[in-house]
Amino acid sequence: MASTEDDGDRLLRDYANGFMVSQVLFAACELGVFDLLAEAPGPLSAAEVAAGLGASARGTELLLEACVALRLLRLDTRGGRALYASTLLSRRHLVSSSPTSQHHMLLYLARTTYLCWGHLAQAVRDGKNQYMKAFGVPSEDVFAAIYRSDAERLLFMRGLQGVWRVHGQHVLAAFDLSPFPVVCDLGGCSGALAREYASLYPACRVTVFDIPEVVRTARTHFPVPEEEKERISFHEGDFFTDPLPEADLYVLARVLHDWSHEKCVQLLARVQQACRPGGALLVIESLLDADGRGPLTTQLYSLNMLVQTEGQERTPGQYRELLAAAGFTDVECRRTGRPYDAVLARK
Ligand SMILES: C[S@@+](CC[C@H](N)C(=O)[O-])C[C@H]1O[C@@H](n2cnc3c(N)ncnc32)[C@H](O)[C@@H]1O
Repeated sequence: MASTEDDGDRLLRDYANGFMVSQVLFAACELGVFDLLAEAPGPLSAAEVAAGLGASARGTELLLEACVALRLLRLDTRGGRALYASTLLSRRHLVSSSPTSQHHMLLYLARTTYLCWGHLAQAVRDGKNQYMKAFGVPSEDVFAAIYRSDAERLLFMRGLQGVWRVHGQHVLAAFDLSPFPVVCDLGGCSGALAREYASLYPACRVTVFDIPEVVRTARTHFPVPEEEKERISFHEGDFFTDPLPEADLYVLARVLHDWSHEKCVQLLARVQQACRPGGALLVIESLLDADGRGPLTTQLYSLNMLVQTEGQERTPGQYRELLAAAGFTDVECRRTGRPYDAVLARK
């Protein structure tokens, strides 16, 4: 009697093969498949795509077919030939020139994050990140490891900015931040979130605070448009040791998840001291459920923090505890239904 595969077998197979799905997406980005098809005047055959990419006909056809099965591309067989075309998803988020492109984040995941995850078991044994195993670099200073070359720093900064073009305004609208006209985005990187902030709250001014090499890279590669220069500026410094610029509202977006409990307490105490009475701090992070047992994406992000940083994702209760320990009051957590959530705390 023929027996069908049971749910457990199917689940196990899907999990075991999950990395292959990631690699299809990464390889198609790396090779420029989505850019080529978006720029073509119409759908292309596998041979035309292979010629355009300078890749093998056999490999290209297999990759294109997998992209179609994953709904990253569309197959057009109307003329009796297999032709491949972009989808709305690929035009919006995979074409490198799209304003909402995730292309650079996917390259970062492929070239860095994936290699760190290759040492997940060791990271669990050691309880620490795996830059030494993955790249042969020490990580006592975790951002020295993350920014181990100019190219790596630029790719990290390009990768990180993509998410704010898609989700930035939603997360910044979780609270009415208009009462805070002077804003300082601590660890603000390329200034991507600052730009979304300035566009959502036209009366505000935002200072992006980050370490000197990040600010220098931002000034060179992510210049603020002339018409926004009055409202968005950069400030070099170390948020653990240097004076923080004055502001009505401080923002820490995807910063606390990089650090241990002790370093979070240290950083938050500095922010609380710098904050004016009546001022506030906005923490933007992916929140775990109250019991820490979901959502799965945030649990995976937390493991990602294990392999890449000194930190972890946290529950609303854990953020409340950290913020209260630093002297903040009236802590409110709001979920956005998107990858990142918002926590507002007042002084
Ligand atoms: C995970 S990134 C988040 C960047 C940005 N807030 C975002 O959400 O895209 C952490 C940021 O903290 C910055 N950073 C790390 N250590 C720092 C320090 N000691 N002083 C200032 N910025 C720091 C990094 O350069 C980086 O831009």
